[in-house]
Amino acid sequence: MINKESPIPIYYQIQEHIRKNIKQQKWKKGEAIPSERILTEQFEVSRMTIRQAVQGLVDEGILTRKRGSGTYVSNEKVEQPLKVITSFTKLMEQRGKKAASNITDFYIRKPTETEAHQLNIDADTDVYHIERIRLGDEIPIAIETSIVPVKLAEGLTKEDIQHSLYEFIEVKKGYPLGDAKQSIEAIAANKQTASQLDLPVDSPILQIERVAYLKNGVPLEYVRSQYAGSRFKFYL
Ligand code: GLP
Repeated sequence: MINKESPIPIYYQIQEHIRKNIKQQKWKKGEAIPSERILTEQFEVSRMTIRQAVQGLVDEGILTRKRGSGTYVSNEKVEQPLKVITSFTKLMEQRGKKAASNITDFYIRKPTETEAHQLNIDADTDVYHIERIRLGDEIPIAIETSIVPVKLAEGLTKEDIQHSLYEFIEVKKGYPLGDAKQSIEAIAANKQTASQLDLPVDSPILQIERVAYLKNGVPLEYVRSQYAGSRFKFYL
């Protein structure tokens, strides 16, 4: 199975095998993969090489380690198109998942200098500070902190953000959404992020900073989101 003479690293060849097993559904989504010991025997390589191969796939999100129980084939990641501005609730619905939010903070305050600049507002303009853990089928996918000028979302309630912020803006306020400007960077989950997303500390996280605009060009939202790298991917 493994060609030890090949210039392709052995751990990489093993990863290719594992990917193939998953693609051909020999190893099914959500099911446990064979133990390290069995893989070591099967591939006739050292335990260290197996560990390296498996760890790489865990880092990519293809496999998931569950503490004390083993390594599993991960379920499909949620994909989000980058070009269009999509509400989390809609995105989940399109994927046949049930969206939910745990609100961890919701209050009115003054903007920071960066927020005022990004939202093009004065330092004494009130903004909503909205912090939510976003879930799909009860699995935490992202943490989002949205800053929205009160004047664009007057009357926003906990019930509204429990459901959908964008629906409130588009349907209740009647403001059509425009486009967004965003940057994505990779970070490692700190203790708090890891616990909120139910991941091990140092797991890969996609951190997004973005400004979403209304169709008329007015900045609506300055948001910082942290997506679990193992459960989410973006495409263009
Ligand atoms: C996405 C965006 C966020 C936005 C959210 C609104 O997740 N990245 O910037 O706040 O959608 O989602 P909802 O309408 O479900 O509240």
